[in-house]
Amino acid sequence: MNSAFPHRHLLGIEQLSADDIRLILDEADNWLEFNRGPRRRLDRMAGLTQVNAFFENSTRTLLSFEMAGKKLGAEVVNMHVAQSSVQKGETLIDTALTINAMRPDIFVMRHASDGAAEEVAAVMDCPVVNAGDGRGEHPSQALLDALTIRRHFGRIEGLTVAICGDIRHSRVARSNLKSLTKLGAHVRLVGPPSLIPQGSEGFTNFDEGIEGVDVVMMLRIQRERMDAAMSDSLGDYHAAYGLTRDRLAKAPQAVVMHPGPMNRGVEIASDVADDPERSLILKQVEAGVAVRMAILGLLTRT
Ligand code: CP
Repeated sequence: MNSAFPHRHLLGIEQLSADDIRLILDEADNWLEFNRGPRRRLDRMAGLTQVNAFFENSTRTLLSFEMAGKKLGAEVVNMHVAQSSVQKGETLIDTALTINAMRPDIFVMRHASDGAAEEVAAVMDCPVVNAGDGRGEHPSQALLDALTIRRHFGRIEGLTVAICGDIRHSRVARSNLKSLTKLGAHVRLVGPPSLIPQGSEGFTNFDEGIEGVDVVMMLRIQRERMDAAMSDSLGDYHAAYGLTRDRLAKAPQAVVMHPGPMNRGVEIASDVADDPERSLILKQVEAGVAVRMAILGLLTRT
């Protein structure tokens, strides 16, 4: 553990202070500039082994953790869950203990169950990074979103961010709400009544929810986490909650974000997603590699 970042694992934004978040963003800012330059690889993690175990599908998070580790000089090993003994009924904890016995230096995992990373961290000797646990947290996504916003506006404090769509099932929303609030932004939750968590205040009228905001952060509808009745009750989702160019006129200064994967024509119209002036979606992807370099570097620095 290093004194500047006094955490053994990265399990959620919950455990981080505003200063911890700023430290990660400052390091990631430097890595983003490094990645745009001519040098491709460093030896900060030379001799260290990073294991990525994704029990749930991923494109952005898995690839960017892999690229981040390789850019820092780590040996990166991806566990292929479909060909692993998980398919023979091995439990998550037995899998974790098995990998732990191989002595990795850092373990990055995604799992469909809330709290899975925390359970694994309790039995492993190396730092564990939560790359998304069920409806729990997705801390590296929230950090890359914060970096993208900070680089665009030069600040986060005082901005108003509308997080829109399927808040209830979204670990991205949960982590972003915590991180953006800690950094001094005003966060509005916008979505259908059934997709705003009980006990949270939110806007159910999309046009009112995004009026005058600085950032419209769209979320994917996670039908895989809903029962059929809830999914059916959403009806024509795009008509009521899809971000179209007409709707975006309610927030004339706003930039548009989406963590991906996007469902074009459902929560976001293609011309909005591809708008080179308003959409930061590919900038989020670029920030993802830099933020993950910062996370791996901080957790393995002694
Ligand atoms: N945003 C995100 O977590 O994307 P992936 O599922 O592709 O990793």
